[in-house]
Amino acid sequence: MKHYSVLLTALPFLSFILPALGQGGATCNSTSICPTTAPCCSEFGFCGTGEFCLGGCNPLWSNKPTSCMPAPLCESATYTFTNESRILSNATFYNGNASEYDWVVDKGNMLMSNGELDIILTETNGGTRLSSTRYVHFGRITATLKTGRWPGVVTAFITMADDKDEIDWEWPGAATTEAQTNLYWQGVPNYNNGKTISNLTDTYSNFHDYTIDWQPDSLSWEIDGQVVRTVLKSDLKGAFPSAPSRVQISIWPAGIPSSPNGTIEWAGGMIDWKDPDYVGAGNQFYSRFQSIKIECNDTVDAIPVDALSYVYGANVTTSEGLQVPSIAITNQSTINGAVSDILGLSMFFLMVVQ
Ligand SMILES: *[C@@H]1O[C@H](CO)[C@@H](O)[C@H](O)[C@H]1NC(C)=O
Ligand SMILES: *[C@@H]1O[C@H](CO)[C@@H](O)[C@H](O)[C@H]1NC(C)=O
Ligand SMILES: *[C@@H]1O[C@H](CO)[C@@H](O)[C@H](O)[C@H]1NC(C)=O
Ligand SMILES: *[C@@H]1O[C@H](CO)[C@@H](O)[C@H](O)[C@H]1NC(C)=O
Ligand SMILES: *[C@@H]1O[C@H](CO)[C@@H](O)[C@H](O)[C@H]1NC(C)=O
Ligand SMILES: *[C@@H]1O[C@H](CO)[C@@H](O)[C@H](O)[C@H]1NC(C)=O
Ligand SMILES: *[C@@H]1O[C@H](CO)[C@@H](O)[C@H](O)[C@H]1NC(C)=O
Ligand SMILES: *[C@@H]1O[C@H](CO)[C@@H](O)[C@H](O)[C@H]1NC(C)=O
Ligand SMILES: *[C@@H]1O[C@H](CO)[C@@H](O)[C@H](O)[C@H]1NC(C)=O
Repeated sequence: MKHYSVLLTALPFLSFILPALGQGGATCNSTSICPTTAPCCSEFGFCGTGEFCLGGCNPLWSNKPTSCMPAPLCESATYTFTNESRILSNATFYNGNASEYDWVVDKGNMLMSNGELDIILTETNGGTRLSSTRYVHFGRITATLKTGRWPGVVTAFITMADDKDEIDWEWPGAATTEAQTNLYWQGVPNYNNGKTISNLTDTYSNFHDYTIDWQPDSLSWEIDGQVVRTVLKSDLKGAFPSAPSRVQISIWPAGIPSSPNGTIEWAGGMIDWKDPDYVGAGNQFYSRFQSIKIECNDTVDAIPVDALSYVYGANVTTSEGLQVPSIAITNQSTINGAVSDILGLSMFFLMVVQ
């Protein structure tokens, strides 16, 4: 059901995150940008300050492209999971300091043991999503993981830009010999962009290396180092992911009554909360990660030594005639200032209480 996955990748999961983060102010969207008093359009489409200006803040729908905080610069690294010191378990408390944390938990719960990270889905937690604190602006990202194997349960490993450029690996439901690939330009669905890769050895029982090799003019997906799909920017008439992106991993419930039928069907049916695997694991489903490797391929010839961040600027017109935001590397801090941070946080709490 590849054409379903277009809208399904993010939207149903967002509706689970929404109550937890960034709601309260005016809404923002492509036709209504945020006012100067609450300039930042959060990932979830609400205007505000402080928290609203960090990861996921949409520069196209904010008051100005520069209203969002600068995004932490890519840093090549291999992340392993021996302890939780570099993972902030509640993204609400993140202040933009990517030197302090490599990952934030946007929603849900995780467990770590034997050097493996499990992200958890329970009947009540609505799923789990982790985001990298740093952004990637082209590069190779490889996750070594085991998927879920249960109807209605989706595992995902994606890149997501603040302007909603997106590159996906997804594993819906019980199809453990398949992996789905997909991509979006600025969140615009293109029903031809999804492709399923078949004949894998069991993705639940075996760790595989899944790679997103994202270069300015081409994008490849690899499994265990073998290219399984390549898309060229020219194939898409330029509607190609090109903005700095966070790496996100998630497990989410698609097979639940509140999901659209198409979503449920795509994910292989309704979730069975009495599944022996669920009960046997102490009432949880999980996806398991061994490592995530990021190799940055920023396109500038020489990155200044004091570079810290990416910022969006005015639109430019591509050779294909599309309007896209310009992206600059800067030495601007990514950290919300102490005072404004406290203000931002208290406003956030106030709005949630109301
Ligand atoms: C966009 O936001 C405006 C202002 O909040 C709102 O009135 C409008 O309904 C929104 N449009 C969509 C399509 O959500
Ligand atoms: C925790 O993990 C980090 C890497 O994520 C490592 O640098 C650090 O030494 C570890 N600490 C302990 C106590 O194992
Ligand atoms: C994160 O912290 C906020 C503020 O204390 C709280 O409302 C929220 O429930 C926490 N989220 C989780 C998943 O614990
Ligand atoms: C950011 O985090 C690093 C590492 O924990 C710390 O040394 C630095 O002081 C922090 N910066 C700010 C401005 O809080
Ligand atoms: C998967 O394997 C089967 C049996 O070997 C084969 O018939 C089929 O063509 C393969 N499919 C793909 C997409 O490679
Ligand atoms: C979803 O499927 C059920 C059962 O086939 C049907 O009764 C229901 O009308 C469908 N709902 C929608 C929104 O299509
Ligand atoms: C991309 O990054 C890799 C790893 O850092 C490096 O070996 C390679 O030369 C880079 N390629 C380009 C085109 O920048
Ligand atoms: C910039 O381009 C994007 C599409 O890439 C569009 O949504 C946005 O409205 C444009 N902004 C301006 C100020 O023209
Ligand atoms: C940032 O770069 C500008 C221009 O190169 C320079 O003038 C400024 O001193 C730099 N600021 C910091 C904090 O490094």
